[in-house]
Formats: sequence, structure tokens, C-alpha cells
Amino acid sequence: MRKYLVCITGASGARYGIRVIQALVESGCEVHAIVSRWGERVVAEETGRAFAAWADLTGVAQERVYDAEDLSAPPASGSFRLDGAVIVPCSMNSVGAIASGVCGNLIHRVGLVCLKEKRPLVLVPRECPLSLIDLKNMATLAAAGAVISPAAPAFYYKPKTIDDLIDFVAGKILDNLGIEHGLFKRWE
Ligand SMILES: Cc1cc2nc3c(=O)[nH]c(=O)nc-3n(C[C@H](O)[C@H](O)[C@H](O)COP(=O)(O)O)c2cc1C
Repeated sequence: MRKYLVCITGASGARYGIRVIQALVESGCEVHAIVSRWGERVVAEETGRAFAAWADLTGVAQERVYDAEDLSAPPASGSFRLDGAVIVPCSMNSVGAIASGVCGNLIHRVGLVCLKEKRPLVLVPRECPLSLIDLKNMATLAAAGAVISPAAPAFYYKPKTIDDLIDFVAGKILDNLGIEHGLFKRWE
């Protein structure tokens, strides 16, 4: 069974992260999750529910949701085998920390471990506009092996609802991980 870790940070777009968790669980993957302190705040702000309530709805097992401040949790170690990790949405704070090699919480550590172990790492930045510092940090991460997959839904497939837009971004992430899905209709 393929094993993925989904991290939600304090950038806008919490529903992207929740949808990715749900889609990976539905695809039969073993899913682990971490939500940063500000990620918790934005989840509550944007969805009206705490992440714990969403975790129940997505089907991610409670024991696979880790405290972002706990650097002794299993995902902190390179020996915790993963098929990949996604940080969605990814704040410029987390982009900057990982690009600098700074480990301020478990999410940064997971990003750094994926890069050193050469495991797939997908970052889904959400900020507008981007400063030169943000762009340089993302270029550093791309050079180190991360996939930068911005939260930028397309419109050529004629989305009708917010859910359609979210599904497009989530579908691109599953594409990046090489997982089959039906989250959006492909261009033909
Ligand atoms: C409601 C809300 C929305 C935010 N949206 C963004 C955003 O879209 N992008 C971003 O980089 N930071 C955003 N921030 C700021 C981050 O939460 C802040 O930089 C925080 O330090 C991120 O910490 P983290 O990376 O550990 O989650 C937002 C904060 C709040 C309260």
C-alpha cells in the first residue's frame, strides 16, 4: 500500500489539503497528516470546523495525525518510509524555512527529510503577489528536487463550482504523485 504524508500550513486554501487527504484515502493509500498551528487556525477560519472534525470525515486514522510541534514523532526520521509528502497549502513561511534548511516544526522536518532522502515532495504555495524572496526560495526548493505545484486552478475544463476548482488543484497534486484519479476531466 502506498504511503503519503499530507501537511497543511497556515496559507489560505485549507480545503485543498483536506480534499487531497480525502482523495488519497479513497484511492486506498495509507495517509498520514500534520497541521501546523497556523494551519489549524486557517482551517477553522475558512471552513468553520477544526481539523479534527475534517480528519474524521476524510477517513484519515486518528493515530496518523501528528502534532506539528512534536519533533520526536515518527515522520521526523528518514527511517519512516514514505512514497511522498505534500504540503498543501504551503505558506511562504514554510517555503522559506525548508528552503533555508531550518527545522522549526515537524512539517519543515518532513520537507527536509524528503529532500535528503530523494523522496517525492510536492509543495502547493498560496501567496499573491510573490516577492523576490519567495520566488528565490521556491527556485531553491525546485533545484533541490521538490515539485512546486501552485494552487492555481485552470478554467479550460469549465468549472462550475468551488468544489470543481478545488478538485482541479487536488487532481494536479495526485498527478504529481503518480496516482490515478477522476478529480477533473482531462483535456482531449
Ligand atoms: C487567515 C489567514 C490567511 C493566511 N493566508 C496566507 C497565505 O495565503 N499565504 C501565506 O504564505 N501566509 C498566509 N498567512 C500567514 C501564515 O499563516 C503565517 O505566515 C504563519 O507564520 C505560517 O506558519 P506555518 O507555515 O507554520 O503554517 C495567513 C494567515 C491567516 C491568519
